Amino acid sequence: MKLLVTGGAGVIGSNFGAHRVEAGDEVLVLDLLTYAGHAENLAPVLADVRFVQGDICDKGTVDGLVTSDLDAVVNFAAESHVDRSILDSGDFVRTNVLGVQVLLDAVQRSGCGRLLQVSTDEVYGPTAPRQVATERSNLEPSSPYASSKAAADLLCLAFRQTHGTPVLITRCTNNYGPHQYPEKLIPLFLLRAMADEELPLYGDGLHERDWLHVEDHCRALSAVLADGKDGEVYNIAYGEPVPNRLVVEALLHELDKPDTLIRSVEDRPGHDRRYAVDSKKIRADLGWEPRIPLGTGLRRTVAWYRDHREWLEAVTGPEFDQYCAALYGDRKQA
Ligand code: NAD
Ligand code: TYD
Repeated sequence: MKLLVTGGAGVIGSNFGAHRVEAGDEVLVLDLLTYAGHAENLAPVLADVRFVQGDICDKGTVDGLVTSDLDAVVNFAAESHVDRSILDSGDFVRTNVLGVQVLLDAVQRSGCGRLLQVSTDEVYGPTAPRQVATERSNLEPSSPYASSKAAADLLCLAFRQTHGTPVLITRCTNNYGPHQYPEKLIPLFLLRAMADEELPLYGDGLHERDWLHVEDHCRALSAVLADGKDGEVYNIAYGEPVPNRLVVEALLHELDKPDTLIRSVEDRPGHDRRYAVDSKKIRADLGWEPRIPLGTGLRRTVAWYRDHREWLEAVTGPEFDQYCAALYGDRKQA
């Protein structure tokens, strides 16, 4: 296949780009290289991809790259962190909504194969204990991040309905694995614990997330690209929501660090208590199954971050320090 991977220098996009190059695809990457994007994330395959630095909101750039010979555009480009969307949501609306509209227009006009919009389980909002959200559940996003992703999903479905645009949407649960920017729970706590710094666990730490290793997510996206039906939505999940405190304790155990590093801090505003989605559709229709249990995935992730301290140093400059000061600096004890 010939693919345009937008946001291909972020954590999931870079893992996906490498995965598709290894599968023999021709991969073109468009990425703005925001604080979260690093071309080096594609290092093992960088010589095999065509890399363009640019903005998905820039119609001229996008129109130049979305051509009729593409089999698909796979869109990972986004502002992706909930806490940042609470501090300032402007870039979230711009990239996550306007950017998707620019991509949809280009796909529609060019007649290229299809757009795979990589969305999130957060569009469903919190799920009650023992319940799961299916692809037909209501969209009730809580954070500015989640609402911008839900808006993009609706725009994709509206283009499908109105213009017949070939779009697919995937909604995956929380990812973890190599190259994840250390603002998200797992890499942030790894970075801090390795330096014997306190770990700011929000509220009572009993919020649940269903963690999926990024490699399993990439395999799911490949299955959707190969056999997914246009206009359909596919949930992607490991299927075992876990309270944050347990994940953090498992990380500390893996690092041989004490639980006393955990510090309960003031909760995130609007913090969704639990995410849980039903992923029967992708399993039954496309034959996908996750392969990496959380314990194995955490062990591999800890090993990767331990072996890549120079990567951590390269991606955490003054912007990262400013962000941490703004988010955690005055945060009260819970
Ligand atoms: P990330 O923050 O690691 O990477 C995002 C990438 O997009 C970066 O390389 C950044 O430079 C690029 N980018 C941002 N704005 C851009 C713009 N205007 N034009 C071009 N490139 C731009 O994000 P991620 O975790 O890899 O997430 C990828 C996608 O998957 C997002 O759409 C996110 O909503 C979704 N998702 C993420 C998770 C998760 O746990 N990380 C889970 C489910 C879905
Ligand atoms: P995060 O990795 O930000 O992903 P999301 O908010 O998209 O689920 O957070 C995962 C969980 O960890 C979430 O319940 C919030 C919590 N969390 C903390 O307790 N402390 C932190 O410093 C961060 C970043 C997250």
